[in-house]
Amino acid sequence: MKYCHEEYSTSSCGDCNHYNTCPGECQGNCKKCLEEVHFPAKYPLGKKDYDCERMLDFYVCDYTVKYTSEMLYLMRESEALKQIDNYHVISIGCGGCPDLMAFERYCHEDENGKSVNYIGIDVNKKWMNIHKVIKEYKTTTLRKAQFVYMDAVSEEYSEISQANVIVLQYVISHFYNTKQIEKISTFFDKLIQKIVAHKQKGKPFVVLINDVNSNNRGRDYFQLIIDKLHNEGFHGISKRFYFDYRIQNDFQRYGTRHQSTDILYNIPDELDIYQPWTKCSSAQLLIEVWEDDNV
Ligand SMILES: C[S@@+](CC[C@H](N)C(=O)[O-])C[C@H]1O[C@@H](n2cnc3c(N)ncnc32)[C@H](O)[C@@H]1O
Repeated sequence: MKYCHEEYSTSSCGDCNHYNTCPGECQGNCKKCLEEVHFPAKYPLGKKDYDCERMLDFYVCDYTVKYTSEMLYLMRESEALKQIDNYHVISIGCGGCPDLMAFERYCHEDENGKSVNYIGIDVNKKWMNIHKVIKEYKTTTLRKAQFVYMDAVSEEYSEISQANVIVLQYVISHFYNTKQIEKISTFFDKLIQKIVAHKQKGKPFVVLINDVNSNNRGRDYFQLIIDKLHNEGFHGISKRFYFDYRIQNDFQRYGTRHQSTDILYNIPDELDIYQPWTKCSSAQLLIEVWEDDNV
């Protein structure tokens, strides 16, 4: 976040590529650009994707604390995560890796010297400069972060071999927004085939899904992955959670309500310019795969 803040505050939108509304009036309003990316139905002529590095810097400063906090709330609910000492995480559509920050903090909350190895897969190479900084950050807890740039929906990937955790954070909604949702079923099939091939017997495997709490932005596809895991003979448990943030209808009461919506980090004053999110608001699915029929 420090890096992104420095990059953002020392750059300008001189070469803004936001054709529809920016020229002449953009003046660095990345908040507006991000709103357009996140709500394409509201802005049919708006920006469609994360195609601007300055906007990514802004995104990290605006959303990271919220997303990291949401992930941490979810991780604290998992029994299976407690049983794993070395997390091998695959994060699909990893972006600026708020889940990695959550894992670091989670490991420090436990006194048993847990560690994380992380592979982030993202189709967008514009994250590369931010990923370079993340790769340099190594501690005894955060052993290694690697990144693969590919389309995880359409292409084959082999990076999953050692994984015991898969994260899908704000990526299903993005698939929805970018019309990749038609391929979600085959994407899940592929993911599950990897789990079938690589799950270590007797060790739990965890899937963490954190995303927008709206039925219209992909939330109902979460269940599909559970159904598919069952069809493959996996047993385990799944739990749903939501934050009680501006709930407008009962469908948003997705499973168990988290006790609080408060973010779990202090945001430095210098980040005020981004008007960062200070409340958690997502819907979440925790899947713990404990054993399969073949054990
Ligand atoms: C809303 S962002 C979420 C980023 C990050 N997970 C987070 O929680 O902040 C969605 C990310 O998914 C990536 N993405 C979209 N389609 C993808 C695909 N087919 N394969 C891999 N990554 C994809 C985008 O490039 C973007 O970085």
